[in-house]
Amino acid sequence: MATTIDPATAPSLDLERIRADFPILDREVGGNPLTYLDSAATSQKPIQVMDAVDRYYRRSNANVHRGVHQLGNEATDRFEASRVRVAGFIDADPQGLVFVRNTTEALNLVAGSYARELLQKGDRIVLTLMEHHSNLVPWQLAAERAGLQLAFIGLTEDGRLELSNLDELLAPPTRLLSLTHQSNVLGTVNDIAAITAEAHRRDVLVCLDGAQSVPHMRVSTRELGVDFLAFSGHKMCGPMGSGALWARPELLERMPPFLGGGSMIAKVELERSTWNTVPHKFEAGTPDVASAVGLAAACDYLDEVGIERIHAHEQGLVRHMIDVLDESGATVYGPRDLAIHGGAVSFNVADVHPHDTGTILDRLGIAVRAGHHCCQPLMRELDVPATARASVYLYNTHEEIDRLGEGIAEVRRVFRV
Ligand code: ALA
Repeated sequence: MATTIDPATAPSLDLERIRADFPILDREVGGNPLTYLDSAATSQKPIQVMDAVDRYYRRSNANVHRGVHQLGNEATDRFEASRVRVAGFIDADPQGLVFVRNTTEALNLVAGSYARELLQKGDRIVLTLMEHHSNLVPWQLAAERAGLQLAFIGLTEDGRLELSNLDELLAPPTRLLSLTHQSNVLGTVNDIAAITAEAHRRDVLVCLDGAQSVPHMRVSTRELGVDFLAFSGHKMCGPMGSGALWARPELLERMPPFLGGGSMIAKVELERSTWNTVPHKFEAGTPDVASAVGLAAACDYLDEVGIERIHAHEQGLVRHMIDVLDESGATVYGPRDLAIHGGAVSFNVADVHPHDTGTILDRLGIAVRAGHHCCQPLMRELDVPATARASVYLYNTHEEIDRLGEGIAEVRRVFRV
């Protein structure tokens, strides 16, 4: 269950103080104050994270796991401490935490190593109709290379997973289920603990796309029971190019390397090599140490504000946003039940193309995403070419949601709909 604090009774966030941590929010766009409603694409970054990255480069920069010198040791310590910090944020064993650039890379690692190399021809992978392309295409590539089958969990009318035939889908030859925790389009939060329990009853592994959940709610690998968790640092106040894959260490042990090169080896001969211990076996080449340090600082920042309070704040904003969108006559996609709704809301204004909606809103300084949101199969399922999407984070205010409502009124005025 996503909700742990009731938004109606949760202590409210000190928004003035939080917003002061994000210098970009002071910007004007087109003569209007910036209203940033695109955090599902990437979040803004607080000075605490920028300072951590800056400090790393100013004081400790050197290559890691190589040096005998002081700076090399300091950089290695900072990198490994960041691993422990980020693993702590998702309540996970740090030995299973591999630093990658983003969720896409993490999912490619699981598909390219585990699915392609360890599954057998004819085995089945189950996905869902609400997946981002990043949780579809890597499995398609693996399926093609290894002769695997793909099957899909469908959707209900109100944008939830249609789980009535789950048992059938999880039956042999299914070996792996990969699904999103929170839809980046519909905002639906899936009941991962229950789904994982069902999958494990059938000896099916679960790979979770946490790109839209880890930044916004408490995610515990131990409580959810998942086998793999992929997430992006840049959506959770961390630097661009930061992210992680967490996997059960025993799975990482069994998986062959994804990329070869420096750092991931134990011994190299001319024609064969052996591998470093996990998770280093999956970190080929010089890692982005500064981004890992920045991501750890983002975890500190979010924990200091309180991830559960952030979640409650977002739920209040989403409730307000859905009311405002309803009042404006927009079509809203996805569930109405706040208990299973995250911070992203997709909508359309009559038959105005979402790119036009986005452009008018942008003139008013309101940043939303418009398009298929890397979810073309979901768009087909919704029978729309695209949607506009507004998404919130800890720094958004109710006034900004009101501005979105005014912006939609302007869209209606311009397009006479
Ligand atoms: N996956 C990101 C989004 O939904 C980029 O916008």
